[in-house]
Amino acid sequence: MAARPLARAARAAPLRPFLPQSAVLPRFYSAPSKPSDPLSNSQQSAPSESDTTHFGFRTVKTSEKADKVHDVFSSVAASYDIMNDVMSAGIHRLWKDHFVRSLDPGRKPGGSPQQILDVAGGTGDIAFRMLDNAANLHHDLETSVICADINGDMLREGEKRAHAQGYLPSDRISFKVQDAETLDAIPDNSMDLYTISFGIRNVTRIDKALESAYRVLKPGGVFACLEFSKVSPAPLDALYQMYSFSIIPMMGQLVAGDRDSYQYLVESIKKFPSQDEFAQMVRNAGFLTAGRGYEELTFGVSSIWKGIKPLKK
Ligand SMILES: C[S@@+](CC[C@H](N)C(=O)[O-])C[C@H]1O[C@@H](n2cnc3c(N)ncnc32)[C@H](O)[C@@H]1O
Repeated sequence: MAARPLARAARAAPLRPFLPQSAVLPRFYSAPSKPSDPLSNSQQSAPSESDTTHFGFRTVKTSEKADKVHDVFSSVAASYDIMNDVMSAGIHRLWKDHFVRSLDPGRKPGGSPQQILDVAGGTGDIAFRMLDNAANLHHDLETSVICADINGDMLREGEKRAHAQGYLPSDRISFKVQDAETLDAIPDNSMDLYTISFGIRNVTRIDKALESAYRVLKPGGVFACLEFSKVSPAPLDALYQMYSFSIIPMMGQLVAGDRDSYQYLVESIKKFPSQDEFAQMVRNAGFLTAGRGYEELTFGVSSIWKGIKPLKK
């Protein structure tokens, strides 16, 4: 099958200023769609009716958030890839390249092919990069990725791309409707690597998603999250906020004909915890983290958090 070349990674090299100062994990670790969709074999979790949560800047019933998020991504699914390029001037590709290269998925000498779960995998951006990394850097066509998402419309776009780019038909990738909070089709201790890219901020109960990530990973398995985060220094953040709140919804209207969904996306970024707060949530779920637990990209516009499931509790 035709694996996409890793030219992207090479292309990223001259653009190092967008990438973090440290691309390597320090060596020392500190402790601590709707169910009816045909792609689905899962049930979403049922939050209590009485709780409230945020949906962007609005307060909604906890039980309603997943459906609202589902509607946002069903609405943007067809234009999602082009909008990512437009909104970020292509920089999301560099972040994703760096994210995957830093994880270096694939069979290592003397090791086995990896089982990878890409949660909130959407249209497959991370899954495809992981397969490319395994094939092009490790000559590994046996490592496989499950691209799991709550939204069947996003996954269908991913499947179309997988066929168009030669990843399907094969056993290397599969698409499953799954709620990150439960991952009920994924057995305990079954995954070598769990990734979630620009997905966790949309999850209603992030602590449950982290619990599930911990459950499905093998001892020694790696949790890795790429997500928007807090920008510093403050003057740069002021510019970024201006761009986010005035330009992005307008672009959403012009390119995708959908202002409201992009308004939600920028509000959801603002509501996501700080880098340190989320690192603490990762540790609270039981993962070991290195140093402060995250790496900032492009002045903190996005960050990568990593954790390792310990061999023993
Ligand atoms: C911004 S997209 C990211 C897609 C892809 N990972 C990427 O980096 O391009 C966010 C994705 O999260 C998914 N999502 C939201 N809530 C989810 C949940 N509870 N469980 C699984 N996926 C979820 C959405 O359906 C959407 O596909």
